[in-house]
Parts: sequence; structure tokens; C-alpha cells
Amino acid sequence: MIVFIALQFFRPARTQSPAEPGPDDFALRYAVPEPFRRQLQESCYDCHSNHPRYPWYANVQPIGWWLQSHVNDGNDHLNLSEFGRYSPDKRADKIDSMIDELTFRTMPLKTYSWLHPAARLTKSESDALVDWLQHLRDSMDTD
Ligand code: HEC
Repeated sequence: MIVFIALQFFRPARTQSPAEPGPDDFALRYAVPEPFRRQLQESCYDCHSNHPRYPWYANVQPIGWWLQSHVNDGNDHLNLSEFGRYSPDKRADKIDSMIDELTFRTMPLKTYSWLHPAARLTKSESDALVDWLQHLRDSMDTD
């Protein structure tokens, strides 16, 4: 119990978010149509953007540390808020991996989907999103 209370004083540094998404944001940069924009925001932006929504239990340590490690790790791999700043090759590469993750249904992370039913994508939702991403990918010059 003492350890638990002591832990509450050590809080992870949170991902800072300006109020509005900037021009480098994936959704704005590629004029992502609804409902894909909403789906990405609902299912991916909590770990892959500068705009994670922190649930109340993020204030309880060590849960807060565990959540923040997902946000940091997720953003290291793919930050949708900073997508426009990636090189053209990296953008193409990351769209390919988004297609892979959605096709194999490995994202969003399982532990996250259990806690966030709204983030779960049905098979048809994720198929439609994959189609759209594939069109976007085909329209890019890089192989
Ligand atoms: C709960 C946090 C979380 C959510 C929500 C989440 N991800 Fe991830 N994602 C991660 C973490 C952590 C990694 C890095 C480790 C790994 O690959 O498991 C990752 C890795 C990835 C990668 C690999 C990037 C690369 O090329 O290195 C892609 C692509 C990706 N996620 C796409 C998505 C998409 C698309 C969604 C929404 C449908 C999503 N993620 C939702 C945490 C998350």
C-alpha cells in the first residue's frame, strides 16, 4: 500500500498536444474523408498522434506509466500528427505498414480494444479503410 501511494508521486511526462491538429496531420494532409478520419481518430490517434485522450485511470500509477509507454512506443513507430514531416519514402512505407496492420488486424493493440470498444473496427470497416489507403498509396510516386 505504501509503495502504491509512493508511486503516485512519479508521473510520466505526457504527450503535449496543441488544441488543433496541424497541417502535417495525416487526416488534413491527405484530406481523409469521413468516416475514415473518424475511425483513425477513434482507433489509432490515442497511441499514434500528439493528441492522445488520457482516461481517468492514467492518473493511477503504474497504469499511467504503462499507457504512456504505449503512446511513446506507438509514436516512435508512427506519428500521424507529424506524418507530413516524414520523407516521401517514409510516408509510403508507413502507409504500407498501416495496410499490413489493418489487414492482419494487429492494430489497434488488443489490450486497447478491450478497454475501448468504440475503437474496434469491424471487418468491413477495416476493409474499406484498407481500400482507401491502397488508393492513396497507388497515387504516390514512390515504389
Ligand atoms: C494502445 C496503443 C495503440 C493503438 C490504439 C494503435 N497502435 Fe499501432 N502501434 C502501437 C505500438 C506500441 C506500436 C509499436 C510496437 C508494435 O509494433 O507492436 C505500434 C505500431 C504500429 C505500426 C508499425 C509502424 C512501423 O512501421 O514501424 C503501424 C503501421 C500501426 N501501429 C498502425 C496502427 C493503426 C492503423 C492503428 C489504428 C487502427 C493503431 N496502430 C492503433 C500502439 C498502438
